[in-house]
Amino acid sequence: MEEFMSNKRCPMTTSAGAPVANDNQSRTAGPRGPLSFDNHYLFEKLAHFNRERIPERVVHARGSAAYGTFTLTRSLRDYTVADFLQEPGQQTDIFLRFSTVGGGQDSSDYARDPRGFALKFYTGRGNWDIVGNNTPVFFLRDGIKFPDFIHSQKKHPRTNLPDPQAIYEFWANNPQSLHQSTILMSDRGIPLSYRHINGYSSHTLSLWNEHGERFWVKWHFKTNQGIKTLTNAEAATRPAFGAQQDLVDSIDKGEFPSWTVKVQIMTEEEAKNYRINPFDVTKVWPHRDYPLIEIGQLELNRNVDNFFAENEQAAFAPSNLVPGVGVSPDRMLQARLLAYQDAHRYRIGANYNQIPVNAPRCPVHNYQRDGAFAGITPSIAGNGANFYPNNRVDHGAPAEVPDVQEPPLALEHDAWLDIYDNQHEDNFNQAGELFCLMNEDHKRQLVDNIADGLSQCTQAVQQAMFEQYAHAHADYGKRVRQEVLNRLG
Ligand code: NDP
Ligand code: HEM
Repeated sequence: MEEFMSNKRCPMTTSAGAPVANDNQSRTAGPRGPLSFDNHYLFEKLAHFNRERIPERVVHARGSAAYGTFTLTRSLRDYTVADFLQEPGQQTDIFLRFSTVGGGQDSSDYARDPRGFALKFYTGRGNWDIVGNNTPVFFLRDGIKFPDFIHSQKKHPRTNLPDPQAIYEFWANNPQSLHQSTILMSDRGIPLSYRHINGYSSHTLSLWNEHGERFWVKWHFKTNQGIKTLTNAEAATRPAFGAQQDLVDSIDKGEFPSWTVKVQIMTEEEAKNYRINPFDVTKVWPHRDYPLIEIGQLELNRNVDNFFAENEQAAFAPSNLVPGVGVSPDRMLQARLLAYQDAHRYRIGANYNQIPVNAPRCPVHNYQRDGAFAGITPSIAGNGANFYPNNRVDHGAPAEVPDVQEPPLALEHDAWLDIYDNQHEDNFNQAGELFCLMNEDHKRQLVDNIADGLSQCTQAVQQAMFEQYAHAHADYGKRVRQEVLNRLG
């Protein structure tokens, strides 16, 4: 094995660096006597062991990550001042974490679940994260529903057993989930490996240029390995860690997985009149309206050295933005701007951005100070300036950079005039379009996968779901109803 290749001996030390003479025996009072109180090395070892765990992510706990490179092949200068999107051929280091959503840290890689596709670009002006999934849409269009949704998809709170009734009861009460749940129950619901999925920003994000013009953008990462999937029966025969193994092995062997990076771009003016709400993450922008524009390649070429340090402590946030890149009014995305940094502070601590995997690859200067595990950044520049404003900005103290101010966003409505109800904003058309583009085999798989769970639900939930499928497409509704009835005998 590669890790046994080195011939060098490595001295064992305490965490304070002192050499350790004996790691096999505790100190005792004689051969059969109790431990003596000077077992400081034993105490350190046990005490550190007690503190090995941090909370796992509340969602996306199970995942695998690797480092790589983003290569720009087409300049986006007309759309953005972002420094890494200017010259064809420019390369940017990236870190990409794949994950399942609902299971715990040691759950199976082969759950029928969306796959997370969380991407960190270490740009020259800070870290930019796209925290997306392998699907172009999401189950919800308002973040206020997210905790309920996740509760419904996790295990039963009393029995800790899978709970199909809760899964479908949530969907029955939230027709906005139909498009995403159709993707989830389709053949694409269980990917063969992380290398064989597409990634999407899912949300509409934005780019802005030197003229103060903003563009709405959806990002697509198309796998160069091709989409490959598993049926439920095939997935059941795989070891739980199979996707992780596949990723580690392929990169170790030098078979670097890659994705072609594409964007859809819409002007602010077009967005005002587009027939689809461009900020509704339950919907795609059809390719015929907004064709994909190829702009680069993404490659993974280096595994992590320390799974805990790099994978478990990785902190991605939709609020990690850099000059030239912004968010959009998407309600889900807006809610996520709070959720992630809050989760990181709870899970990893206030200085999570100083951990190497999260640390920017550019200088960090600010007036944030101290906190648990404060390392050497941010640097204390400007003769110890510890507050702002001060008289030292011409002597190395951090100063604001007004030219990176994002262009203003014009608002069209008064805030709080009413609760703007968007629950019934066309929940069905795009689910129906997806059903229509499936071949016969894919339709059969979709209907079977739905019937597996739905046949275990109450009649009221079944009825509500039959109506939703039929609303998307008459044949979709008819087939699901028939298959559920077949199973009920
Ligand atoms: P197109 O015919 O131009 O595109 C169809 C897209 O559907 C392709 O990108 C294809 O992905 C993808 N696809 C095929 N089967 C599935 C599946 N089971 N789950 C998820 N994606 C699948 O059509 P439109 O742009 O008009 O979109 C029609 C429907 O396609 C949408 O309602 C949406 O459900 C789905 N879709 C659309 C996307 C978009 O950005 N417009 C992106 C992904 C899906 P691939 O190229 O990888 O085979
Ligand atoms: C992880 C919340 C919607 C993709 C997380 C985490 C939280 C969270 C708290 C764990 C973060 C951590 O501990 O590091 C939310 C909320 C949402 C939402 C409140 C809705 C308002 C979405 C959507 C997507 C998404 C729409 C994709 C389009 C991810 C991914 C991760 C994640 C990929 C894992 C990141 C990683 O690998 O570390 N989410 N989420 N989430 N979320 Fe969301």
